[in-house]
Amino acid sequence: MTKRRAEITGWGKYVPEKILTNDDLAKMVDTNDEWITSRTGIKERRIRSESDTTTSMAAAASLDALGVAGLQPSDLDLIIVANSSPDYLLPSPANYLQHSLGATCPAFTIAAGCSGFVYSLVTAHQFIETGAYKNVLVVGVELVSYALDYTDRSTCILFGDAAAAVVLQPSTNGAGVISFELGSDGSQAHHLWVPGGGTVNPVSQKVVDNREHYIRMNGQEVFKFAVRKLTTSLNNITAAAGMTVGDLDVIIPHQANLRIIEFAARTLDMPMDKFFVNVHKYGNTSAASIPLALVEAIQEGRLKSGDVTGMVAFGSGLSWAGAVVKMGEAISNPVGIPAGAAITA
Ligand code: UT7
Repeated sequence: MTKRRAEITGWGKYVPEKILTNDDLAKMVDTNDEWITSRTGIKERRIRSESDTTTSMAAAASLDALGVAGLQPSDLDLIIVANSSPDYLLPSPANYLQHSLGATCPAFTIAAGCSGFVYSLVTAHQFIETGAYKNVLVVGVELVSYALDYTDRSTCILFGDAAAAVVLQPSTNGAGVISFELGSDGSQAHHLWVPGGGTVNPVSQKVVDNREHYIRMNGQEVFKFAVRKLTTSLNNITAAAGMTVGDLDVIIPHQANLRIIEFAARTLDMPMDKFFVNVHKYGNTSAASIPLALVEAIQEGRLKSGDVTGMVAFGSGLSWAGAVVKMGEAISNPVGIPAGAAITA
């Protein structure tokens, strides 16, 4: 019998209504649409309204994913949330989401920055592969705007808020997670970090005055790391799956910067139309980036039953994570309860 794998059987997304355009940002910091578009490919991003919380955004995406999979929250065996922007520092967002959904299963959070969703997907795959759990919800959610310094033009133009979720269930017909790579290089942690608010440099007036509670980034170093990891990880995960990058039907890269994706495409000698791109609409949504692209690729028909996708994320840590995933029948035959309609949470 074919090995048991974690197949994607449900998917959903939530993006806040409020759109922040490049022209809006030009009124806040010394920047302009031409600079942002040519250096990043980003045209606009979504920013939370007061009613959007990490929990509410995650719940909205989760209910859609559960609806597509035809599951109720009570059917879930495990919830994993990828997040680095929690509603509260304690407990973790997964506990709040579990309660919000009305689920009773175990729940935990993985904080691996922009790589968090793929880390979580791979973790969920282990529980399914061993037979420990059957119905696993994996959510990538970020309310990055809370940690952005809107006086720092080198970071505030890049990020946006979003949530996206998938339901994973066992398959034995070849669909699901085929191979993966997880990585961390903590020696480069200082290239993308929040210097204040933790135990070494706790919240204080000084921290706030120095704006150390906001994200700081060495853009050029992260750029070089990103291009390197996107290309090497795509080669590694496809080799581990007994394939080449050219065999992938769709590549889903972390949506951080269009130039990073273009660089990787050139290095790998792959056409740009193999890469799914939505960074122009949402900017970098950190742990929500890969699942948001994955969900849109499914909803737009770019990914079909039998297709094989390679997803690679990179970000704070510095970390990276990639996975090769084969889409199963669920893509063409979702249970299809519309937008969480039958869910009672
Ligand atoms: O999930 C991972 C998260 N992070 C990333 O993936 C980020 C990776 N890095 C990048 O995407 C790019 O490095 C950035 C988009 C952040 C910056 O682009 P760059 O081409 O590396 O620009 P730079 O940092 O070399 O800056 C070039 C110039 C500087 O001015 P001077 O010193 O040449 O006069 C910056 O001050 O551009 C200036 N600059 C801006 N100008 C207008 C920086 N940000 C802006 C801005 N608008 N928003």
